[in-house]
Amino acid sequence: MRAYDIIQKKRDGKELTKEEIDFFVGGYMRDEIKDYQAAAFCMAVYFRGMTPEETASFTFAIRDSGERADFSQISGIRADKHSTGGVGDKTSLVVAPIVASCGVKVAKISGRGLGHTGGTIDKLESIGGFRTDLDEKTFIDVVNDCGMAIIGQNAVFAPADKKFYALRDVTATVDSIPLIASSIMGKKLASDDDCIVLDVKTGSGAFMKTQEKSEELARVMTDIGKRAGKKICALVTDMDEPLGYAVGNALEVKEAVETLQGKGERRFTALCIALATKMLFLAGKGSEKECERLVFSKIIDGSALKTLARFVRAQGGDEEVVFTPEKIAFSPEKADVLAEKDGFIVQTSAEEYGKAALLLGAGRNTMEDKIDFGAGILIKKKVGDRVKKGDVIATLYSSKNDFETAQEIISSATKIGDERPKERPIVLKTIE
Ligand code: URA
Repeated sequence: MRAYDIIQKKRDGKELTKEEIDFFVGGYMRDEIKDYQAAAFCMAVYFRGMTPEETASFTFAIRDSGERADFSQISGIRADKHSTGGVGDKTSLVVAPIVASCGVKVAKISGRGLGHTGGTIDKLESIGGFRTDLDEKTFIDVVNDCGMAIIGQNAVFAPADKKFYALRDVTATVDSIPLIASSIMGKKLASDDDCIVLDVKTGSGAFMKTQEKSEELARVMTDIGKRAGKKICALVTDMDEPLGYAVGNALEVKEAVETLQGKGERRFTALCIALATKMLFLAGKGSEKECERLVFSKIIDGSALKTLARFVRAQGGDEEVVFTPEKIAFSPEKADVLAEKDGFIVQTSAEEYGKAALLLGAGRNTMEDKIDFGAGILIKKKVGDRVKKGDVIATLYSSKNDFETAQEIISSATKIGDERPKERPIVLKTIE
């Protein structure tokens, strides 16, 4: 077998066998196949696509390029959710404690934020003392004890993805559905879950800007999961507007706590309930209606909040933030963005809000950048809200006293019109 023949076959639109894909990924990992050949391969996939069989083989080759987690010491069913990345997406901090309180284990391996999207690990590290680098035994003990634990992605899992992703990033081959699906699922399947609910974002703040493309990505990813023997489904959800009110790490932790106190923003709460319900349903906790009732009951009786506190303490964090979220400190400098006229907020851009948060210090441009955990945006007016000229539409927080560009970005990304827009549901489609 030769790399040249495999690239040529894909270039000509023919279907690769599992053996050819394994040969290519293995050879690339051993540096026998060079970056320029892997780049040509990715470009051929970009233009020719992959069949479901090829996509699954490529995903499994990525998954098998490193170690695989073994969670057999965790008692009970394990369910996880995975978001394709968004702005203000603190969903895991709400959904995991709810699901864990219902007796389904959540053993979560999460990523950091890059560019305009945030990562769960950064949000958790904004809690004083919180550790995301637990060894495997401690991780499993915390899951067994609290029902949930969350650690950072480790280089030992799916290393082929890191290599391919870095290459795709500089060769204009990131936005290919089979490559995105295999990258995300290759990492996800290296973990050891029974059930997976995918939250595939669509809109300005998402990888996929159109609902049609997002649905296709969701279908490809669920197909891979099924082939790997997982119980899996996907929700295609709106990411045109940032999720909830908060964008930025400490701000989002506070909002997650408030959501578990039953005081969350309506659409964000609806998304958390939908995701938690699906996780419980896949885990066999009853009909969808019964699972939804269970989810509500764990918010209302405070047990999901207690689970969050217990998990924060078990991972070394200050649990006080869960009981007195008003004590969470934000960056000292702040500035408001004001409405320029009377009317209704008809549109905001999650992507632009994400870029503004990045400028304020809440995110990173490269993996080496340091984050200002207290920086970010607190949105005061959401799509559909009425505003008067001069009303505060958002408050910006940062340690640098330099707000001008972020203010301009938010101002021009927030459109004010004369009529209240029709409400868009947060869950746009379910792919079973
Ligand atoms: N997230 C990933 O992990 N990989 C992609 O290719 C795109 C988004």
